[in-house]
Amino acid sequence: IATLEDAEAGRFAGRTAIVIDALRATSTIVTALANGADEVVPALTADEAAALRRPGDILGGERDGRAVPGFDCGNSPSDYAPEIVSGRRIVLTTTNGTRAIRLAANADGLLAGSFLNALACARSALAGGRDIVILCAGSRGQFALEDGLCAGAIADRMRQLTSGKLELDDFGSAMLALYRERSHTLTDALRRSSGGRKLAQLGMEADVEACARVDICRTVPWRTESGALAGGRG
Ligand code: MLT
Repeated sequence: IATLEDAEAGRFAGRTAIVIDALRATSTIVTALANGADEVVPALTADEAAALRRPGDILGGERDGRAVPGFDCGNSPSDYAPEIVSGRRIVLTTTNGTRAIRLAANADGLLAGSFLNALACARSALAGGRDIVILCAGSRGQFALEDGLCAGAIADRMRQLTSGKLELDDFGSAMLALYRERSHTLTDALRRSSGGRKLAQLGMEADVEACARVDICRTVPWRTESGALAGGRG
């Protein structure tokens, strides 16, 4: 398990990175691609996103949790329904999630993980055959429990898929143990997390529930040569 500092220092060469921002960026990316979006282009800033937009694209993202003024969609998974995103390219900028994806630029492969696609993501990452680093996007450089729990969920699936042979670092082992302890009360744990409390303050509790559904889809966003994320199946 790695931090944004590791990503910034370019420590991911030769590895597959799984980027997690469970509340909400990677859950939103998974949802958009599962609902038929062509690809998701991660942008660092709102200005960059606006400049990258081509005719027909959807411009999405948040600052301080709210949709960026003038953008088509915010960062709620429910903003990216099939009738809105099907067949369209999305340019997305979020405070931490799309930034983490961009910072992990030197990883040899990059996948986006969430509770929604935990098993599929674990399977795809293992299929890559490289060492795997899980990058928890957190919030403004700080670790966020919701991302750690999601890392634990993905590690749990990897353990199952490798019949227990997976080697984890100490942080990974701690997150796996925490996830197993909380897996039966996951939605509550996410509601109590820093990201969950922030969303509640914004009146977006429904997003926490939407992001807490485990293994509901097989879509695994993977980074293409252009740096955009396309939807694979894991
Ligand atoms: C982020 O990228 O910082 C988060 O997804 C914030 C949010 O929940 O909107």
